Amino acid sequence: MKRIISIALVFAIVFAFAACKANTNKETTANSGTASQAQTTENNGKQDTTSSSSKTLVIYFSATGTTKGVAQRIASATGGDLYEITPAEPYSDADLNWHDNSSRTTKEQNDKSARPAIANDTVKLDGYDTIYIGYPIWWGEEPRIMDTFVEAHSFEGKTVIPFCTSGGSGIGSSGKNLAQLSKSGTWLNGERLDVGISDSDLQGFINENK
Ligand SMILES: Cc1cc2nc3c(=O)[nH]c(=O)nc-3n(C[C@H](O)[C@H](O)[C@H](O)COP(=O)(O)O)c2cc1C
Repeated sequence: MKRIISIALVFAIVFAFAACKANTNKETTANSGTASQAQTTENNGKQDTTSSSSKTLVIYFSATGTTKGVAQRIASATGGDLYEITPAEPYSDADLNWHDNSSRTTKEQNDKSARPAIANDTVKLDGYDTIYIGYPIWWGEEPRIMDTFVEAHSFEGKTVIPFCTSGGSGIGSSGKNLAQLSKSGTWLNGERLDVGISDSDLQGFINENK
């Protein structure tokens, strides 16, 4: 009798262990499915972080890192994803020289039809309902590469919040220009954000634009 009970016990333990392992496998499979989805999106262009449940995307172009820093803080405060617009031809120091009438940026900003190419512009806006879009002010306006970006994407059904950094100039008509060129989405006025903006002022900006 003792022997029968022992055998039954061994079977029960083996069965319980096998059931437990089957469950663990299911979880691993589900998780790796999600992980690989996230990975695929991450590989599109330079989408820095991605989770399929996130509804906010912070898109930015930054030639010297100022706008990037602000964009990262907005993404962190909103729990949003980040996407950097990368020029196909990077801007050199000489390109950025606004004292030079023949520098690349001076020429681009003087030509409203200039559309500098973007490298790997494969970002997907589907699934996001709020989009922050940030850039430095160049000659009082948005860099022309921002025009390239908004003309290439549909913002249909999305709320778009422009923001900029600058040496002091306001956002001016740059947000409106972008709205006009994009022809889609609900564009809010947006704002110039100072590089040293406090956390509470940044949160205020986010709350005002909800
Ligand atoms: C070509 C060029 C033109 C600029 N024009 C202006 C301007 O009209 N007004 C202003 O306040 N700052 C101007 N700036 C300064 C930038 O807007 C400012 O440094 C910005 O924060 C840089 O952002 P980034 O580091 O993300 O590129 C200009 C900078 C460059 C390179």
